[in-house]
Amino acid sequence: MEKIKIGVVGGLGHIGLIQAACLAKLGYQTTAYDNNSFKMEIILRGKLPFYEPGLEELVKETLKSGFLTFTSRSEDLGESDLVFICVGTPSLPTGEADTSQVYAAVEEVARNRKKHGLAVIKSTVPVGTSRKLTAYLEEHKLSANITMVSNPEFLREGSGVEDFWQPSRIIVGASSEEAAKKVAGLYRPPGIKTIITSWENAELIKYAGNTFLAAKISFINEIAGMCETVNADIRIVSKGIGLDPRINPYFLEAGAGFSGPCLEKDLKALINQFQKTGRKAKLLETVLEVNEGQRSAMVQKLREQLGSLKGRRIAVLGMAFKAETDDVRDSHSLPIVKKLLSLEAELSIHDPWVKGLRQAGLSEDELPGAKWVHSPYEAVQGKDAALILTAWPEYRALDLLRVKDSMAYPLVVDGRNIFDPQDMRKLEINYVGVGI
Ligand code: UGA
Repeated sequence: MEKIKIGVVGGLGHIGLIQAACLAKLGYQTTAYDNNSFKMEIILRGKLPFYEPGLEELVKETLKSGFLTFTSRSEDLGESDLVFICVGTPSLPTGEADTSQVYAAVEEVARNRKKHGLAVIKSTVPVGTSRKLTAYLEEHKLSANITMVSNPEFLREGSGVEDFWQPSRIIVGASSEEAAKKVAGLYRPPGIKTIITSWENAELIKYAGNTFLAAKISFINEIAGMCETVNADIRIVSKGIGLDPRINPYFLEAGAGFSGPCLEKDLKALINQFQKTGRKAKLLETVLEVNEGQRSAMVQKLREQLGSLKGRRIAVLGMAFKAETDDVRDSHSLPIVKKLLSLEAELSIHDPWVKGLRQAGLSEDELPGAKWVHSPYEAVQGKDAALILTAWPEYRALDLLRVKDSMAYPLVVDGRNIFDPQDMRKLEINYVGVGI
């Protein structure tokens, strides 16, 4: 294999570390750069700063083989042929994506160049960013040694490693075909559906993809609301429409709505970009509104069953934004828990992977008085209700009779529809799902 050297900026982040470890596994000499000393310490102790199935083994293997190295010195990327930019683009209060980390990373890479290379943007950036960055580099006389390429990522947390090996597609946006082919040619096995296109098309494909997924979820949640009023079952309705290949069965699970660090942020960023160009993103704004409604609906369902929530003891099962991740960033559980606390409910919180405030990156003031416990059974003990917010396999496997017997009042409000209402009825558990 041609000796290609790869650099990754943000190499200890969720996307950066998967990208670095998988490229190292493919046999590229890969240097992951990150200036987060806290995460670096964890990784040097042989651990990962977050949970991602299959990644710890891969990092260990590629460190041992010598193809993966970590650094906190950006100069160490000076000889890389391609540098992937995997830094965050968080939402500003207006919804706009904050690209300051991307600009800083590209500038740092450009200043440290020892030879010509490609700066490949993996981060999700507003449409037009690669072109603006190219102009910015020219303006600052930094463009001689660097060419911008857009290569959006489509990895899902919790199956990121698997998604790297079996991607649905590779999208590369560039102004030079040679640069685009160099990026596309890195990925294995060859033959993955690949689109080589302009910077703008590549950047918009990423936003359009994520916001379409968000729209599917809000769509099914709106239909779920109708199911509740006409005595229909959203699980059957969803299955029925998903069998149409033009619709497909994915992202049609009704529940407490979408959350996490990507879908909502990207939706807000695209809405903001519409606004900036003098257009109104009517559909996208509604997608967001419906999603926010799903969160309030969880609190409303508890109120309908229990009346005032003041002093009510509630077990919250699930803080991660979805199963198979310990990520709580922008999780739907946070606003729901905050709302319940503001209504003076007494909460016990459990999550199999998020063991407490510190791991969730939260302070005591953010969730005052909420108690974190170590098992779902401990959480439900003596409670007036159990509220399921994350579809962890561990919750699906709960001994429901034990749950019922230990609760003060057997009410389960299921924001992920993980149980069958008939089974619950047989057990005489008062069960409330979403659209069932
Ligand atoms: C999402 C996209 O799926 C990835 O393709 C993309 O690369 C990634 O964002 C990103 O931009 O980095 P991710 O945020 O990891 O991936 O999670 P998803 O699997 O998309 O789930 C997002 C949310 O939607 C979760 O809260 C999940 O519980 C919810 N969801 C998903 C539903 O409520 N219903 C469904 O049917 C599916």
